[in-house]
Amino acid sequence: MFKRKEQEGGVTETAVMAALSNVIEPELHRDLVSLNMIRDLKIEGNDVTFTIMLTTPACPLRGKMEADSRAALAQVPDIGQITVKWDSSVPADARIKDQLGQSFRNTIAVSSGKGGVGKSTVAVNLAISLAKSGARVGLLDADILGPNIPMMMGVEQMPPPQNRKMVPAENFGVKFISMAFLVKPDQPLIWRGPMLHSAIRQLLTDVEWGELDYLIIDLPPGTSDAQLTLAQVLPLSGTIVVTQPMQVAASDALRGLKMFEKLEVPILGVVENMSGEIFGTGAGEKLATDYDTEFLGSVPMDANVRVGGDGGQPIVEAFPDSPAAQALNEIAQKVAARISVLTLQKSTNFIPIELVG
Ligand SMILES: Nc1ncnc2c1ncn2[C@@H]1O[C@H](COP(=O)(O)OP(=O)(O)OP(=O)(O)O)[C@@H](O)[C@H]1O
Ligand SMILES: [Mg+2]
Repeated sequence: MFKRKEQEGGVTETAVMAALSNVIEPELHRDLVSLNMIRDLKIEGNDVTFTIMLTTPACPLRGKMEADSRAALAQVPDIGQITVKWDSSVPADARIKDQLGQSFRNTIAVSSGKGGVGKSTVAVNLAISLAKSGARVGLLDADILGPNIPMMMGVEQMPPPQNRKMVPAENFGVKFISMAFLVKPDQPLIWRGPMLHSAIRQLLTDVEWGELDYLIIDLPPGTSDAQLTLAQVLPLSGTIVVTQPMQVAASDALRGLKMFEKLEVPILGVVENMSGEIFGTGAGEKLATDYDTEFLGSVPMDANVRVGGDGGQPIVEAFPDSPAAQALNEIAQKVAARISVLTLQKSTNFIPIELVG
């Protein structure tokens, strides 16, 4: 019966795939077919059903891809009903498993040249935003001296260990671990280089993280031991640099950028935080332009960001419709897209085509 259709020139797999090979993935700038993103194609009569396998669940461009696919398939003679389904598989940065033995597909460090610019705030909200989109996300508080991820995530204790491994705490769909879990609140934390190294290593290796699409790492401020240690202990898929909107802040951020460049860690882009009337706006974008990296977005100054941070109710969770939360969600999507591109470029079977524009 199927054969008869082919002979009569009905809708065929070849025709459908040929049509879909004209649809370009907007981030990766390659067609859906050669990217192997078309899966489970079924043709019943003239009706077509298939799944588009995204490289991140945090993909904001589904609408465009679906519309483009439908438009392309409209060119196939006799095409009937078209059903598009979605799934995602985040590409893995293979170096991580090789070096660390953990199943993290990608590792993303959140850094800044100086303190108090909102690294932890960005890290927490980025993690939650990615988790909300359906990704498996971990958050490592690598600020060994001033750990405050547990407070921001609203969980002050981690579960008891299992099989001699630490079990990460979990909230808002994100697994997280922090030195704050291991020391008493009033105990001063004094670390020397080698201890810092082994502390960070332990939080990565002696923890039952499970499989993660993204491990977000909140770094201490500046260009200190922790950054160097981290880059030695595990391969970083990329780093985002957080800056405040003033030019002086951006020059600190530039130092941070340069350090990661020396460590050969890809820069995913710049986030401007606390923009608005008080600190102004613009230095983040200028820094990104000057440094020839992506401007990921600016997060406005909003009292609810601080209140939420102090009270364990991060803004993307507590006020998802606020401009600050929406900015953070967009940043998360851009970061996920940048990671997909970088990780796919590293994998051998990806042949990048000339980027348009
Ligand atoms: N967009 C924002 N609007 C209002 N308050 C903010 C915003 N971003 C961060 N904050 C607040 O600013 C303070 C510093 O933020 P955060 O702790 O995230 O910075 P940090 O860079 O991680 O600091 P450190 O260098 O000490 O680790 C916190 O009280 C936080 O709630
Ligand atoms: Mg911090």
